[in-house]
Amino acid sequence: MSTKVVLIPGDGIGPEVAEAAQRVIDASGADIAWTVRHAGEAALAAGEKQLLPQSTLDLIAEYGVALKGPCTTPVGTGFRSVNVLLRKTLDLYAAVRPIRTMAGVHSRYENVDLVIVRENTEGLYAGIENEITKGVTTSIKVATEGASRRIADYAFRYCRERGRKKVSVFHKANIMKLTDGLFIRCAREVHDAHYQDIAYEEVIVDAACMKMVQDPTKFDVILAENLYGDIISDLCAGLVGGLGVTPGANIGEKGAVFEAVHGSAPDIAGKGVANPLALVMSGVMMLNWLSVRRSEPRFAECATRIRRAYDRALTEGATTRDLGGKLGTMEFADARVARL
Ligand code: NAI
Repeated sequence: MSTKVVLIPGDGIGPEVAEAAQRVIDASGADIAWTVRHAGEAALAAGEKQLLPQSTLDLIAEYGVALKGPCTTPVGTGFRSVNVLLRKTLDLYAAVRPIRTMAGVHSRYENVDLVIVRENTEGLYAGIENEITKGVTTSIKVATEGASRRIADYAFRYCRERGRKKVSVFHKANIMKLTDGLFIRCAREVHDAHYQDIAYEEVIVDAACMKMVQDPTKFDVILAENLYGDIISDLCAGLVGGLGVTPGANIGEKGAVFEAVHGSAPDIAGKGVANPLALVMSGVMMLNWLSVRRSEPRFAECATRIRRAYDRALTEGATTRDLGGKLGTMEFADARVARL
């Protein structure tokens, strides 16, 4: 029987990369029954009253899995981020973002292979902002023991299950003594109690950024609260060739939403030039996740076939403009399909 997955095309380049990713995943033989649901500006354009319609949330909750294109969030004013709302409402508490150098993708580094595990539900993204008086604003950072322990446990478990060796916690507890102080205390306690076989270090986030740029191969699994995790995700994308090659997953106890790290890229939307690889790679993560969750090895086999196809296509130079190639979005997808 087909496996039901919600497909959210999203905004900007979202529909283009979503169509390409869907085409590649289908060509792998993964038997997925996609149901399209909208979120973001696309939801309003489709006649919905809300940016994150209840019907979209309900279907993700029912199927337990979605592949999502990016959604636009206006800067400074306007509506709250659909992404933040989605992750919070469905309690998708762990953002997992693998970062690795790939043959055929130009970057300044070699042998980068790290994973960011970002706390996805609190920190400054709690959205508690006030204008105290004209010209004076505040934003409240939230850190709870429950969420901090939960994400630490996820990061250490992830590290152990994948044979990785070290967890580095990025923090600013020298300044934010209570919130970041609690975050690292929880990580340390979870480590000491259950994961002493895994190496553990605490690194102040600004120094960590410098160290990453100097030598990213020193890092393995990075554990970070929400804002640091967001920022270093783009920094890390830059280490391995850009946002076109950086996939991601938002994982919770009851389900998962897979999406690339990049946004809706309004500067290139509608031109057919966006690189769909990050969403294809997110799809590969989804197939591997389905394989474990549903105990269906065939999904892992499809994931491996897709990975081999895009690795081969990259080394043969079949790629999009952002990676130095000439292919458009759908040509890029077709080049992968041809190698499947
Ligand atoms: P962005 O990631 O959309 O774009 C940054 C730069 O990278 C742009 O020059 C863009 O052309 C390029 N780029 C991004 N993805 C690409 C791809 N697949 N292929 C080729 N080039 C690519 O970041 P920006 O401009 O800060 O955000 C635009 C909108 O996206 C904002 O409204 C933001 O809130 C939203 N956003 C949504 C996310 C999500 O839905 N998960 C994540 C990040 C941003």
